[in-house]
Amino acid sequence: ESGYITLDSGYKNTGATESAITFLDGEEGILRYRGYPIEQLAEESSFIEVAYLLIYGSLPTQEQLDSFTNEIKIHTLVNEDMRKILDGFPSAAHPMGILSALVSSLTAFYPESLNPNQKKEELDLSIVRLMAKMPTIAAWSYKNSIGHPVNYPKNKLDYCSNFLHMMFAYPTEDYQIDPVVVKALNKLLILHADHEQNCSTSTVRLVGSANASLYSSVSAGISALWGPLHGGANQAVIEMLEQIKADGGDSKKFIAKAKDKDDPFRLMGFGHRVYKNFDPRATIIKKAADEVLTALGVKDPILDIAKELEEAALTDQYFVDRKLYPNVDFYSGIIYRALGIPTDMFTVMFALGRLPGWISQWKEMREQKEPIGRPRQVYVGEKERNYVQMNGR
Ligand code: SDX
Repeated sequence: ESGYITLDSGYKNTGATESAITFLDGEEGILRYRGYPIEQLAEESSFIEVAYLLIYGSLPTQEQLDSFTNEIKIHTLVNEDMRKILDGFPSAAHPMGILSALVSSLTAFYPESLNPNQKKEELDLSIVRLMAKMPTIAAWSYKNSIGHPVNYPKNKLDYCSNFLHMMFAYPTEDYQIDPVVVKALNKLLILHADHEQNCSTSTVRLVGSANASLYSSVSAGISALWGPLHGGANQAVIEMLEQIKADGGDSKKFIAKAKDKDDPFRLMGFGHRVYKNFDPRATIIKKAADEVLTALGVKDPILDIAKELEEAALTDQYFVDRKLYPNVDFYSGIIYRALGIPTDMFTVMFALGRLPGWISQWKEMREQKEPIGRPRQVYVGEKERNYVQMNGR
């Protein structure tokens, strides 16, 4: 404590805002979007319907859903000037870096987004434009990275099918839309759609509180999500599982490494700031991994390694004492891999899923007319001292 300031690094015990969007109960493992349990939404809804629910607060009527879907289709194309920026990136550029840069460039292309007093229609346009263009930017950056020609969106396809088409079609052959893959992608994007005041969402709200545009705020969120302690964990989990497989598949050795204070290695995909018994999303994704890989006839040895690792950790006192369980990132990469998504695109997939959450939280922050975010600190530096010329200067 320093006078009236209470130090809370990492905001472990700070409620930054009031929000009506997502409810988490870390002890009971409960996650609801606008009151609806994610178990129901993941099974029965579609990503675009859940996006509408998060952003506008209620499930859309058929007419509202059709209009939202059609508006998104109108704006799916990325203009040629943006395409030139994309073409300028080296093929080795990480897709999250490209996504952050191109989403930020939307403010340059659409400067009206800087107006903090946008009329409802203008804000709705900014929202639809972002929902529409982010998948295209993601798919085109992937095609760029493998030297393939980009695929233009096909408006007769639904949101997820269109993304898969843009990712995997090739001039000489169409992408065969597989309903198993489309359903799995919808489920994964729904499960990533929002998660109250996590690191990237808090970043979006903080940047937006300075009256920065929605696009600039989401670009900042993408950068925060990229961190391996946050959304970047889904890529790090697969790299870790591959490392365990290459090393002979001995989970216990890596559990010991993760417990070793002198070893920076952490069990990626394990632990959570809020969930202290289980992450309800991990429960659903683990079950879906078995279902999807079986339906696709995919045998992936790292799924077995992941299960062994989970088993070993859940019976290890270090993990039990610290209440460390698999989180949303632990099994998700195994499904993405089975869908043909490359590892360095896994966090992009997380961003595509989290986009409606970021948008809804930014919109709520603006509607609540929240003041600019500006936390204080406890100063522990030098007391006042006088300037002296150093070394005879
Ligand atoms: C996401 O906030 C959200 O909601 C995020 C997210 C979302 O939907 O937005 O759910 C998405 O980011 C999920 C988390 C993905 N990250 C990882 O899987 C990376 C590995 N996990 C950890 O780095 C960690 O568990 C965090 C970052 C998830 C949580 O960090 P905390 O709450 O600050 O916990 P901590 O680092 O203080 O750890 C507490 C103790 C420490 O041990 P002691 O110092 O008490 O002895 O647990 C240990 C840590 O060393 N620990 C781990 C560990 N995670 C915590 N030890 C080994 N392996 C791990 N994974």
